[in-house]
Amino acid sequence: MQRRIILTGSNGLLGQKLVYLLADRPQIKLIATSRGINRHSLRGGYHYEPLDLLDTEGWRRIFQEVGPTDLIHTAAMTLVDQCETDHETCDKYNVEAVAFLASLCKEYGTRFIHISTDFIFDGEAGPYTERAEPRPLNYYGGAKLKAEEIVQNSGVDWAILRTMLLYGVTPAMSRSNIVLWAKKSLEENKEIKVVSDQWRCPTLAEDLAAGTLAAVMKDARGIFHLSGGEMMSISELVHQVADHWKLDKSLITEIESSSLNQAAKRPPKTGFIILKAQTELRYQPHSLTQGLALVDKQLREGWTE
Ligand SMILES: NC(=O)c1ccc[n+]([C@@H]2O[C@H](COP(=O)([O-])OP(=O)(O)OC[C@H]3O[C@@H](n4cnc5c(N)ncnc54)[C@H](OP(=O)(O)O)[C@@H]3O)[C@@H](O)[C@H]2O)c1
Repeated sequence: MQRRIILTGSNGLLGQKLVYLLADRPQIKLIATSRGINRHSLRGGYHYEPLDLLDTEGWRRIFQEVGPTDLIHTAAMTLVDQCETDHETCDKYNVEAVAFLASLCKEYGTRFIHISTDFIFDGEAGPYTERAEPRPLNYYGGAKLKAEEIVQNSGVDWAILRTMLLYGVTPAMSRSNIVLWAKKSLEENKEIKVVSDQWRCPTLAEDLAAGTLAAVMKDARGIFHLSGGEMMSISELVHQVADHWKLDKSLITEIESSSLNQAAKRPPKTGFIILKAQTELRYQPHSLTQGLALVDKQLREGWTE
């Protein structure tokens, strides 16, 4: 059977990695969509359609043209503090668009593979399994949780893949990430402040893309936690970045989250137990050391943010 896959957010970090994995496969017809022009360096083996999440007519047309077997929904308003200060836009992109896409999936018998976040949890009891009780601390987390509930109650065949603290590099990224930011700042001899009271499992974008592909090809159903396998504080992560690229660690100052005055509250300790994904999807994330080595190789090959 040939799969006809529509991907949203194909200009994003996860989206771009998924295009590399899904394009040019005989058993897959890929339609990549994102806002504005295609920023992916790979041009062949798939079709690109510029499509805003709110363009309901455009979405109706593309579902009618393609009759997708699967929708992989990575696009979202991902800036957490922006969601906290602009609830209306956050709701439109992260909740209402999901409800609309789910209704199209219902109409066309399309599977909905939805990407979600550790920020649905309050960070008091990490690492979390898929069965843990969500309790979001900020507006972004609340919106992503509503989206999860919409997908689950939509009557479509669905899988929800939750992830956290993505890092990696692709040409022409939408935004930077903690690894690239720390590396660049320290290379420029800038003093940086990093929190020592938030713990995460940093996730290599290639690993999440591979896990997503596995979920699609295995017709996985239900919720899966897909993150790196190592839990660490943000400051430990930044120290490892400094070690990897032999940068000056004296430029790093550890601070507490409360001193940052960010609009959105962050959960202190999330982290995932990834056993279900390891067992059912054969998900095998790289270690942080391996992930940083891959990023280093890609940067040496000329990939820049
Ligand atoms: N990054 C993380 O640490 C993290 C952690 C947990 C969960 N997640 C989830 O993982 C998913 C992918 O994250 P990511 O880091 O790959 O995100 P990203 O790099 O910010 O990419 C998101 C993509 O969606 C596109 N997009 C945003 N609004 C759109 C709209 N209205 N219409 C069409 N496209 C739109 C963006 O377009 P532009 O390129 O034009 O901005 C961007 O290409 C998201 O669902 C996010 O909630 C991410």
